[in-house]
Amino acid sequence: MKNLIDKSHFGPWAMVTGASSGLGKEFARQLAADGFHVILIARREKLLQQLGQELQQEFGVSCKVLRAVLSNARDIDEVIRQTNGMEIGLLISNAGTGDPGEFIDKKTEDLINMINTSVIAHLKLVHYLSPLMVNRRKGGVILVSAMGASHGLPFMANDAGTRGYINSLGLGLHEELKRYGVHLTVMITSPTKTPIVKHLGFDEDKMPAPPLSVQKAVKETLMALRNNKSSIIPGRLYRIINAMVPDSLSRKMFGKMLAQGNGIEW
Ligand SMILES: NC(=O)c1ccc[n+]([C@@H]2O[C@H](COP(=O)([O-])OP(=O)(O)OC[C@H]3O[C@@H](n4cnc5c(N)ncnc54)[C@H](OP(=O)(O)O)[C@@H]3O)[C@@H](O)[C@H]2O)c1
Repeated sequence: MKNLIDKSHFGPWAMVTGASSGLGKEFARQLAADGFHVILIARREKLLQQLGQELQQEFGVSCKVLRAVLSNARDIDEVIRQTNGMEIGLLISNAGTGDPGEFIDKKTEDLINMINTSVIAHLKLVHYLSPLMVNRRKGGVILVSAMGASHGLPFMANDAGTRGYINSLGLGLHEELKRYGVHLTVMITSPTKTPIVKHLGFDEDKMPAPPLSVQKAVKETLMALRNNKSSIIPGRLYRIINAMVPDSLSRKMFGKMLAQGNGIEW
């Protein structure tokens, strides 16, 4: 799995948010295997430290751990301050979670926290790093979004809305940045085996197709970035499902799965 993407274009440092688990952890691992130094960001600092040590020992790269709560504006500013002057050629803006349930039962504060983590943090980090990449005429960004987000999702309506924003932001920026040699790919994440699947209450046996491995999802996405594709839905089967299943049916199917998994009557 060596040399998936070119360190001279996308390195030497990669910043990975949500690196303590799931997709972010695997992005960090595949990038370190390719010789990238990695900045690991999330809330669970101990997991980040463990991962950093593993990557340093296994691949001989440098790792910088930053604990940050990305719904918090001050923590994002601190990330920017602590990485000032580092040559970050790649941003994997991935951190996020899901908060299933009925919209009418949600606290306003929690809805806004979701927007802060899943919109504002992505926006601030890409706005901080992309001008530096443009100056160097190289670099890349992966914005992690979700399949189905753009056409609405019952019982995760606000969550899906934030990912819909990321899709649109990313597709627009892709065109702007490519004029300067900077790549940007939106990862329209298909169901992937990470702790989030259980957290959302999904039963793997009742899903339309088995969730992908993190290794496959990340590898396909890094290859899409290398080829500067504007977006990627990892997994051929999920690309077919996305093309064939009408939006209204997808809303009902995933809405029903969320309702069943979270004790909601529908
Ligand atoms: N797996 C899927 O099927 C799937 C499908 C669609 C979209 N996605 C998207 O893929 C991304 C990664 O999710 P995953 O599947 O890898 O889930 P995961 O294993 O639960 O990982 C989520 C990561 O985000 C970090 N995070 C969450 N909220 C944060 C916050 N407020 N501040 C800082 N870090 C935060 C978590 O770290 P800490 O808890 O340590 O902070 C963790 O490292 C998410 O944006 C998710 O919406 C995943």
